[in-house]
Amino acid sequence: PKRPPVVFHWFPFIGSAVTYGIDPYVFFRQCRAKYGDVFTFVLMGRKITAYLGVKGNDFLFNGKLADLSAEEAYSHLTTPVFGKDVVYDVPNHVLMEHKKFIKSGLGFDQFRAYVPLIVNEMHDFLAKAPTWGPGKSGVADLLATMPVMTIYTASRTLQGEEVRAGFNAGFADLYHDLDQGFTPINFIFPWLPLPRNKRRDRAHNIMAETYLNIIKKRRAAHENPGTDMIWTLMGSRYRDGRPLKDHEIANMMIALLMAGQHTSAATIMWILSLLGSKPEVIEMLYEEQKRVFGKELRPLDFDSYKDLHLVNYVIREALRLHPPIHSIMRKVKRNLAVPGTKIVIPAGHHLLAAPGVTATDEEFFAHAKDFDPERWNSRVNEDEGDVERVDYGYGLVTKGAASPFLPFGAGRHRCIGEQFATMHLCTLVSTFVREYKWTTVGGVPKVDYSSMVALPLGPVKIAWERRE
Ligand code: HEM
Repeated sequence: PKRPPVVFHWFPFIGSAVTYGIDPYVFFRQCRAKYGDVFTFVLMGRKITAYLGVKGNDFLFNGKLADLSAEEAYSHLTTPVFGKDVVYDVPNHVLMEHKKFIKSGLGFDQFRAYVPLIVNEMHDFLAKAPTWGPGKSGVADLLATMPVMTIYTASRTLQGEEVRAGFNAGFADLYHDLDQGFTPINFIFPWLPLPRNKRRDRAHNIMAETYLNIIKKRRAAHENPGTDMIWTLMGSRYRDGRPLKDHEIANMMIALLMAGQHTSAATIMWILSLLGSKPEVIEMLYEEQKRVFGKELRPLDFDSYKDLHLVNYVIREALRLHPPIHSIMRKVKRNLAVPGTKIVIPAGHHLLAAPGVTATDEEFFAHAKDFDPERWNSRVNEDEGDVERVDYGYGLVTKGAASPFLPFGAGRHRCIGEQFATMHLCTLVSTFVREYKWTTVGGVPKVDYSSMVALPLGPVKIAWERRE
């Protein structure tokens, strides 16, 4: 057996941090050409072994619990932000139960109610937002507006009315402080005594308190339980019959806010920029709206979303080119042999998979760099194909993850927010297409890898014109 080849670097502790940090995909491709699919690089004292390609995706996503740990890879970053006793601060079997509870609050009944709420929030926001407003045309700054709009729409739906109202009154600043704790620097140097870590902890405590008060108030009012996420979690029971503790609910809500906000905000910005670079696709989307909702464009309804094929292809294509999460990590718990090779990945390394590499590989996608939504016409449900499915406790998920397109992951840690995100994005895109035409100013932006998700590098501007 031999160890994976080590990527050459000049400085022992820093290792490849700079090249990886600037553009992980360029770094991965260069290393792959030199060392093959499996190689180790040093990142601020940590040994990270990347396993690229569809086999690498499968190796990580479907690894055994005893071999690979997500908690040990992520907890130092996530626990101070989300709080104790949720996500990576609990044993995996507890996370699986939590995911089941959350999933039960993400059903079609909820989505039906969410669509008009999202449209209303968008209208309220865009009417007043700088660079948008009531005029006939303008140049919108997406980086300055889309993250705010996403937090309003996501919080009004997933988080409920009280939390949405809080964003008008001081919650936004708190959220910002909390968010500042969710950065690559906190991933790499969790122990740094940064002043903003104090602000992060304060923000967490105040936000958690807000949720705790909402829960208390609801209990005291003896109202009939509703169907929003807080009510769903308040009514959930562990397998042994125990209800969730209030702080578990509060911290799960904070985790959901973070999980859905960054990924969806990044994706809507990419979608608008990519579409603005091919305005003919915007017109095709407009035609699709008329086909599905009639010439008069009756209000959006969730049950018709399955017929919006092109919108769905656009979302897929944006996620193919710009998956928000570029590096998926696990801590290696035991020496792991890489099948078909002599390589053994040593315990103590971090294992990394990057499904974004296969998603932009010519081997799987012709003209892989092009934004071509219609390519999905002939390859529907790429990640769901004819593969084995297993139930880790929160519903069936794909197991044989030998797919080149996995923006939502696979296996026990697979995303449970995919349907919500798709409904959310479908509503945003449909509303934009119905009401505006636009072109991207200055070409499709480059990628900013310095934040937790792959954001477009500013300025990200579109020139919009209101439809008659
Ligand atoms: C997990 C992507 C939206 C909640 C994941 C993972 C990926 C991902 C790649 C797997 C991480 C890993 O294996 O280490 C995305 C993308 C989104 C999105 C691309 C939107 C475009 C959401 C939303 C929610 C959410 C809206 C909440 C409603 C979660 C949760 C997990 C997860 C709870 C499970 C973490 C685990 O089991 O370790 N997501 N996500 N995500 N996501 Fe999402």
